[in-house]
Amino acid sequence: MQSNVRPATMERITTQALANAFIDAQIAEIKEQVGDKKVLLALSGGVDSSVVAALLIKAIGQNLVCVHVNHGLLRKGEPEQVIEVFRNQMNANLVYVDAVDRFLDKLAGVAEPETKRKIIGAEFIRVFEEEARKLEGIEFLAQGTIYPDILESDAGVKAHHNVGGLPEDLQFELVEPVKLLYKDEVRVVGKALGLPDNMVYRQPFPGPGLGVRCLGAITRDRLEALRESDAILRDEFAKNGLAGQVWQSFTVVPDMRATGIKDGNRTYAWPVIIRAVNTKDAMTATAENIPFELLQHITRRITAEVEGVNRVLYDLTPKAPATIEWE
Ligand code: XMP
Repeated sequence: MQSNVRPATMERITTQALANAFIDAQIAEIKEQVGDKKVLLALSGGVDSSVVAALLIKAIGQNLVCVHVNHGLLRKGEPEQVIEVFRNQMNANLVYVDAVDRFLDKLAGVAEPETKRKIIGAEFIRVFEEEARKLEGIEFLAQGTIYPDILESDAGVKAHHNVGGLPEDLQFELVEPVKLLYKDEVRVVGKALGLPDNMVYRQPFPGPGLGVRCLGAITRDRLEALRESDAILRDEFAKNGLAGQVWQSFTVVPDMRATGIKDGNRTYAWPVIIRAVNTKDAMTATAENIPFELLQHITRRITAEVEGVNRVLYDLTPKAPATIEWE
């Protein structure tokens, strides 16, 4: 296994040729590490786990078992894309777990943000553990650990294990093929592996997903309004050249309602808040200067197309004093 220190001589992967050389070397290394044994991977559909999945599929094919847990807090179209790309196009051995009801039932009535995060994290491990126990002969666990995770982990900022917290009797040997790479290199490797651009260039997305953007106690109808408004925002940013320019953008639906009017009748419905920020390292951030006409257009679309919404607001606050996410 590789050490956890990036050699000073390791060239930054910036080209397809360098990515291909890395891919070939990793495939050989993975084959040597796991032989004909089976490897388990929690595949979220984010850049890091997707690149690890694509690498392992090349190296060991059906001996990689990918588990995609749909916790109901993913963005519109994401679970479908994971199935399309990995099961249909790459012929992966993919276990799709529909855990939507399970997560939403556990979260019902829970308003406190940290409690929500803890419930989502703990339930994820429980679902993953159950799936791991159903499978036989798994000796390895693949993880999309990247170099900043190792550096932050060493500095005591955060624990880097993506699926940390599995019980003692379910400890696997780790396979972490991109652990010495920086994020930009992971993207170059992902592109060389043939992953679609909207996966490779995906924005950061918090582990608790839409759960921290559906403020307070999550309800299914408000979650739906969040997912639909987020999809409209993504669509408009893509069409207007902002998708690749803005570091992170999303919508938020607070747990409150406001008075409005539709077809001459009073409405009492939710506001949608747009957040779009630029940052280098997520430690500080500033709001994007979105053209006013585009904001108006997005407002018209969201209020016309999303059920239960009668206002749209733009969050202008930098980090600090705000954080990027609302919870
Ligand atoms: P904040 O809200 O702290 O967010 O300014 C900084 C960046 O971190 C992301 N974020 C998370 N990522 N798990 C993650 O993997 C989490 O629980 C989590 N919370 C926030 C956030 O989206 C932003 O990019």
